[in-house]
Amino acid sequence: MRAADDAPFLRACRREPTPYTPIWLMRQAGRYMPEYRAMRARHAFLDLCKTPAAAAEVTLQPIERLGVDAAILFADILLVLEPLGVGLEFTAGDGPRIARPVRSAGDVARLPAVDVDGAVPFVFETVRLVRAALGGGVPLIGFAGAPFTLASYLIEGGASREFLRTKRFMRAEPAAWHALMDRLAAITGDYLTGQIRAGVQAVQLFDSWVGALSPADYREFVLPHSRVALRGLPPGTPVIHFGVGTATLLELMKEAGGDVIGLDWRVDLGPAWARLGHGVGVQGNLDPAILLAEPAEIRRAAAAVLDAAEGRPGHVFNLGHGVHQETPVDHVRALVDTVHELSARR
Ligand code: CP3
Repeated sequence: MRAADDAPFLRACRREPTPYTPIWLMRQAGRYMPEYRAMRARHAFLDLCKTPAAAAEVTLQPIERLGVDAAILFADILLVLEPLGVGLEFTAGDGPRIARPVRSAGDVARLPAVDVDGAVPFVFETVRLVRAALGGGVPLIGFAGAPFTLASYLIEGGASREFLRTKRFMRAEPAAWHALMDRLAAITGDYLTGQIRAGVQAVQLFDSWVGALSPADYREFVLPHSRVALRGLPPGTPVIHFGVGTATLLELMKEAGGDVIGLDWRVDLGPAWARLGHGVGVQGNLDPAILLAEPAEIRRAAAAVLDAAEGRPGHVFNLGHGVHQETPVDHVRALVDTVHELSARR
């Protein structure tokens, strides 16, 4: 067993007892951190992702500063869409854009084959650099977008509120939908496998926008594909399966796969975990907006999440989604310290 296999974060993923509740954060690196903004002043976002030394530096920046129990790789879920030739860009105000969206069965059929290993070698090189720097200490988490969330970007062409084009495509062109999802499931599986081979010690599947669907649609149009993406991964690496607004989908997400199910703040952690059964871990689930409040309030809210988990093995503390840009870094640090302090008392 490597030293880091014993790290509290990895133990919690395996539902083993830990001396305190481990915590990491989505958007651990990001625009709320001055060090990150300084890097972004020198590199465009995509350049940062494609420059392993810089991406490794951004990955490592929050580790000491925040005291978190795991590092999340600095990369993006959309990097593997670039080799599809759809024209991926990250714009200053609007986030990601796909210049040539996928809008028809013909568009799906014309997507070129993608060799993920050849397409994103810089991501795997970043993993190797970060692992070398972290040694046997803090574990490194890799990640990928789930097929639905990737499909929504390809079809909508960017962010969306209602996902109307995606839902229309699903119903109007079911064969093309499933063909697209087959392609994306293979890409997601390869992307995660490549990261695991390069050295990440856990992975998170981000199905960020799947909460837009009904349970019936999730089962028919999404579940089989997320399952395929996860099924082929090298065994022994814990998988966290996360989405936002998924209160009605949690059992189905568990069915699709994952050792730990990510919860957002719209569900109470205690009842949600009981519904899933304590044979699976849970991650979450503080509202990231609470980090804008004063530390005393952050402490109260963190205590409520810890109370709901009742000190059971298998709880990984996290926010219900990413850290907001306006968040004071001191408040993030206060949350990490509070979770360690309060959970160590049990
Ligand atoms: O959490 C981390 O710090 C690790 C790095 C990470 C990024 N993206 C870096 C990033 C991770 C885990 C992601 C995942 C990701 N990317 C998701 C799933 C996570 C989630 O939020 O649900 C999604 C949907 C994307 C696609 C994406 N990339 C969006 C929507 C945006 C724009 C965000 C915005 O607010 O404008 C990005 C860009 C991006 N990815 C940034 C970062 C730090 C901001 C880029 C910048 O510096 O301008």
